[in-house]
Amino acid sequence: MEINYPVYRPTLKGNELKYVTDCIESTWISSKGKYISDFEVKFAGYIHTAYASSVCNGTVALHLALLALDIKPGDEVIVPTFTYIASVNAITYVGATPVFVDSLPLTWQMDCEDVKLKISPKTKAILVPHIYGHPCEMDTLLDICSRHQLRLVEDCAEAIGSQYKNKVMGTFGDIAAFSFFGNKTITTGEGGMVTTNSKELIERVKKLKNQGLSNLEYWHDEIGYNYRMTNISAAIGVAQLERIDEIIADKIRIASAYRKAFENTAIELQGEEVHVLNTYWMCSVLIPSADRRDALRAHLGKMGIETRPLFYPVHTMKMYADLTDEKFPVAADISSRGINLPSYPDLNDADVSFIAHSIVNFIEGNG
Ligand SMILES: Cc1ncc(COP(=O)(O)O)c(C=O)c1O
Repeated sequence: MEINYPVYRPTLKGNELKYVTDCIESTWISSKGKYISDFEVKFAGYIHTAYASSVCNGTVALHLALLALDIKPGDEVIVPTFTYIASVNAITYVGATPVFVDSLPLTWQMDCEDVKLKISPKTKAILVPHIYGHPCEMDTLLDICSRHQLRLVEDCAEAIGSQYKNKVMGTFGDIAAFSFFGNKTITTGEGGMVTTNSKELIERVKKLKNQGLSNLEYWHDEIGYNYRMTNISAAIGVAQLERIDEIIADKIRIASAYRKAFENTAIELQGEEVHVLNTYWMCSVLIPSADRRDALRAHLGKMGIETRPLFYPVHTMKMYADLTDEKFPVAADISSRGINLPSYPDLNDADVSFIAHSIVNFIEGNG
């Protein structure tokens, strides 16, 4: 079946081609070149952090963030079970143990009351993903971190440009990770960024992403990684950043069109707090009954409307299943009833209305 409405499709209609062509013509196609530093400086400026270091994807950005904070075997890191797998895997990469918490029924973000219950003498950090673009409750998290002397890592992969009380996400924690995968708010194909206000942390990140290189050429004094971004990716990133306000405005427009179309229906759009700016990485809804989700997705698929299931709780996956017997009722509920809807910036309001009405008609029994 042809997909008329994909869940995501980036818009690359600015200077992307021009800057990539410049990389090819100048032969600066690897991880050195002017677009790397340009992208890092401009991204740090956009997020309002002192430093930004580009990397080859968001997963390694999280890995480097945890390495820079010296999180290691024996340490525990608190993370929601309702997140993308990379948030949890990064904790495992450094040998630490993920400790899962449930999510809030309204916003689907990390439940800070559950965080408080999970703190142990081994807890070293909280890794907070801002799921689908909605910020977590940062005042409470910062308070918990300062009371218990915990480090805070923000996973901003899905929340580029989102704000909590007029402050941009990625500026609250000790360090933050971003993703520029093809479906992210701005993309570089594959790519990521680590941001922080700490000179010490950014120096660790830069060294570790560059093979543990010392100040001497070809002399490595620790085992590092090659996690660098290419100049070509950075060139796309610079062009995307030039249009980020426009892209985010479209995402907010699409979300409010969905909200309007689902008003007074049985379909619940992800809820929102008043003191946040949600940039709606993905518009997502819950349907009343988990039993009908797959049938709805199949029905929409036949109409050329692509959807995705919401994330499965990570603690239910076999790699992590032995860590806990706990049930996480909110994560289980939203995961079983939720779908991501087409959310690409070029989607117009008439398309949104068509998609929303197709869902409502099916669920309310007229479809
Ligand atoms: C919450 C979250 N964290 C981390 C990542 C990892 O980013 P990447 O796919 O660029 O490795 C993603 C996205 O894919 C994500 O959604």
